[in-house]
Amino acid sequence: MATTDFFRNKVVAITGAGSGMGRSYATLLAAQGAKLLLSDIDADALDATVALLPSSEQGVAVMAMDVSNTEHWIAFKKLAMDEFAGCHMLINNAGIEGAAQPAWASTPEQLNRTMDVNFFGVVTGCRTFLPLLTAQKWSALVNISSIFGFIGTPNASDYCASKFALRGYTESLMVELAHVHPQVQVHLVHPGGVDTDISRSVRTAKFKRRFLTTPSDEMCQVVLVEVQRNNPRIVYGNHAKKTYWLSKLLPLMQLRKLLAKGLKLVDQEDYRQDHNGFK
Ligand SMILES: NC(=O)c1ccc[n+]([C@@H]2O[C@H](COP(=O)([O-])OP(=O)(O)OC[C@H]3O[C@@H](n4cnc5c(N)ncnc54)[C@H](O)[C@@H]3O)[C@@H](O)[C@H]2O)c1
Repeated sequence: MATTDFFRNKVVAITGAGSGMGRSYATLLAAQGAKLLLSDIDADALDATVALLPSSEQGVAVMAMDVSNTEHWIAFKKLAMDEFAGCHMLINNAGIEGAAQPAWASTPEQLNRTMDVNFFGVVTGCRTFLPLLTAQKWSALVNISSIFGFIGTPNASDYCASKFALRGYTESLMVELAHVHPQVQVHLVHPGGVDTDISRSVRTAKFKRRFLTTPSDEMCQVVLVEVQRNNPRIVYGNHAKKTYWLSKLLPLMQLRKLLAKGLKLVDQEDYRQDHNGFK
């Protein structure tokens, strides 16, 4: 795909830039001349991303932060103001896989953590950075949901809940902002299976091997092109379009049967009749 000048000198903030798609956005945007504000909870991983960037005058500012922490967001916004006097695009990319267990085996603490990072972390990012985005002539808010924002799959109730919630929040926000700040583009991204390190648990190793196959750079370059086209819903990656259409067209009775195939990829022990029940 052609590289354009669209992002040249635009200031782009990226969360979760230490790995996977966050790292891909950083390297692709650096090559396209953007100024970067990079953050991740893992400071070493963030340094490794910075080491991959072309050394140029264009400007990169980094901050270790936890997206679930409001104070960190305020500091990240201050960094944007201090270093670049504003921001054109926020990519709310940081996310975690969640408990990777059946709903009854996940603890309330795991559910809260998944929601705090994948949902409330993004909400706080939107709230904190929107004053910077609305101040620009052109700006974009890019929220990363998932194809698991369309379907509920086994061993992912907390993850699916967080990505459905993010989809609802972002779809509302895009209607509201189009009305009062039409210069702020809002994008909802639904990646399919992308080859990253998101599946860290041994419990999801089979799923990772089988489904997380689309190269991360390819996924992120498609997102950057679709942002330039102002496409509000970006669906791309392994199984993404198929999942989107099946979730729209199939009655839940049929969809549920289809999704039950996913049970082959999870630990059958968790599905014995005599499991321990909700903890
Ligand atoms: N890989 C896929 O197949 C896939 C599919 C759909 C959606 N997604 C979503 O894409 C986004 C990027 O995921 P990825 O696949 O590149 O995963 P990844 O694990 O490779 O990268 C995620 C990054 O987020 C960081 N992070 C985790 N918790 C954080 C926190 N509390 N604060 C700040 N940073 C934090 C991690 O340190 C990591 O560097 C996530 O939101 C994920 O849910 C991924």
